[in-house]
Amino acid sequence: MTTDRQATMLVHAPRALLVLTLASSACGVRPAPDPDAPALDQDIHSFARPDLARVTHLELELVADFQTRRLSGTATLELERMDGVRRLTLDTRDLDIHEVTGPEGRALEYTLGEADPVLGRPLRITLPPDVRRIVVHYATRPHAAAVQWLEPRQTAGGEHPFLFTQGQAILTRTWIPTQDSPGIRQTYEAAITVPDALTAVMSAEMLTPEGEPTDSGRVYRFRMEEPIPPYLIALAVGDLEFRTLGARSGVYAEPSVVAAAAHEFADVEAMIDAAEELYGPYRWGRYDLLVLPPSFPFGGMENPRLTFATPTILAGDRSLVSLVAHELAHSWSGNLVTNATWRDFWLNEGFTTYFEYRIMEEVYGPEYAAMLRQLGRQDLEAALAELPPADQVLHVDLAGRDPDDGMTIVPYEKGAAFLQAVEASVGRERFDAFLRDYFERHAFGPMTTARFESVLDSAFFADAPEQRAALGVDEWLYEPGLPANAPALVAERFARVEEAARAFEAGAPPGELPTAEWSTHEWLHFLRGLSQELPEERMTALDSAFGLTETHNSEVLFAWLRMAIRNRYEPAYPALERFLTSQGRRKFLEPLYRELAATDQGRAMARRIYREARPGYHAVSASTVDAILDWQEAGGR
Ligand code: BES
Ligand code: ZN
Repeated sequence: MTTDRQATMLVHAPRALLVLTLASSACGVRPAPDPDAPALDQDIHSFARPDLARVTHLELELVADFQTRRLSGTATLELERMDGVRRLTLDTRDLDIHEVTGPEGRALEYTLGEADPVLGRPLRITLPPDVRRIVVHYATRPHAAAVQWLEPRQTAGGEHPFLFTQGQAILTRTWIPTQDSPGIRQTYEAAITVPDALTAVMSAEMLTPEGEPTDSGRVYRFRMEEPIPPYLIALAVGDLEFRTLGARSGVYAEPSVVAAAAHEFADVEAMIDAAEELYGPYRWGRYDLLVLPPSFPFGGMENPRLTFATPTILAGDRSLVSLVAHELAHSWSGNLVTNATWRDFWLNEGFTTYFEYRIMEEVYGPEYAAMLRQLGRQDLEAALAELPPADQVLHVDLAGRDPDDGMTIVPYEKGAAFLQAVEASVGRERFDAFLRDYFERHAFGPMTTARFESVLDSAFFADAPEQRAALGVDEWLYEPGLPANAPALVAERFARVEEAARAFEAGAPPGELPTAEWSTHEWLHFLRGLSQELPEERMTALDSAFGLTETHNSEVLFAWLRMAIRNRYEPAYPALERFLTSQGRRKFLEPLYRELAATDQGRAMARRIYREARPGYHAVSASTVDAILDWQEAGGR
């Protein structure tokens, strides 16, 4: 087999070398690549060497033990090997490896390399000739970063425990020993044994909706026949009920939440239709959602066939469902065409954010989508004002860093703005046709920034260098800041909100403002647009006119609490404490703790609240807040 890279080397090799290379391969003695020398296109966040031996299929057989907080059992891996290669390298972090076996259960030699705090430890297995299937016998540790084990009191029902995993970006290796790089796609099967009263769900086809009774509980079986990047393998176990939403969609949630969830997500089927209309067929069969307990650290996670979602979007009025459009859009951008490495993360999130707004425009109309776009732009501008230049670049340099650090709003909103600029340059119709073709052509494969650039160039700019220059592709992809040709945004409905904000600031009583028809988005624009320093009596006036401290809308409450901290508006402090201790969504926690940490008094309060709240947060959120509050796990207590 000659790889692309070898082929290019041949083209550019000096004559003598060329002769040598040809000669040695003619005799069939071309040496296998050196397993100790890094591959040219190495993903810096994985130890795997897919150019030598590559995992193609995974079979999990795991028992979830809530007493010991361990998943234990086996991961069986199927491999593709280069001739002459004897070593398979997997990613692991905090796993207890018991044994590695080959055919007929024979033990294989392996070593675990030194531990890196972010990347974990390479598991190097010596492969006997011809072996293409190996079994790793292992258990996760109670503090595995991907897995959160919840006590019954942390769930809505309060009676049963719960567990969920979060793989993105590089946490799958804390619960599955495999090659944990987004370019190494794998199909999978799983059999998960859970306590009797509980249901297991995964990012895969559910083969046993009721589970099958066993001696030690109930086993649920799953199969994912499309190859997916390992960060999308996901599991949740809890007291779950299912409601159908449409022909190919439904929602899982705890029994006391499932009715509200089904009401909130009533438009999902319309979103799927709109998405298909825009960018081609939905390739994953079903689209279901799982509403998690409130400690889920993200708004949503696009696990294939089963989006994981925070309960904080259950506003009651469907006003926060753009998150569903977003996770659904990942079924194309991200799950079909996948960032090759984490420095190409903007290809996942920027495309998805662009696509999310397009779906919202189709389903709820252009004025509605314009509000979402403008709120997104505000977030971006606020972030650009604070981030170091290196982190404002789409093709971000993550060398020596946890990929989580590169995950700011920049890849989302600057990425989407870039695609809007391309759309404006080439026209919507041509751009849509391009995107349909792009998803079709590159489905189930990795994409790099450079490759996308050349795909874009050959589609539009081969004969139009001036148009390319006017668009400023290089500036967008490789430079900090927001280029001047970022499409200007005008949300009509916000113009009226701005008038109201001015009237309020000029002294109008809040009760006289024309707020009756406002949606969540208008409220957010209003609150963000107010001067961030308000006298106590103006805060009180707002609060008593609109009941902001008591609102059940998480986004409005979040915007209000930020203002409350800045203005030391103490009547909102109990609500602030409740919010910080009752949900663990990082997007809400991070700014609130940061805002608190800005003053001595706030910092003391933050540390007091965090001491209570931290055990309830997922590792992803806890590590972010640890950094804000200089929290040392032991010293912090
Ligand atoms: N894939 C992301 C979540 C993610 C990103 C997890 C990076 C781990 C590392 C998901 O699609 C996402 O972007 N979620 C957003 C919501 C969205 C509407 C912007 C979130 O959780 O806030
Ligand atoms: Zn996303």
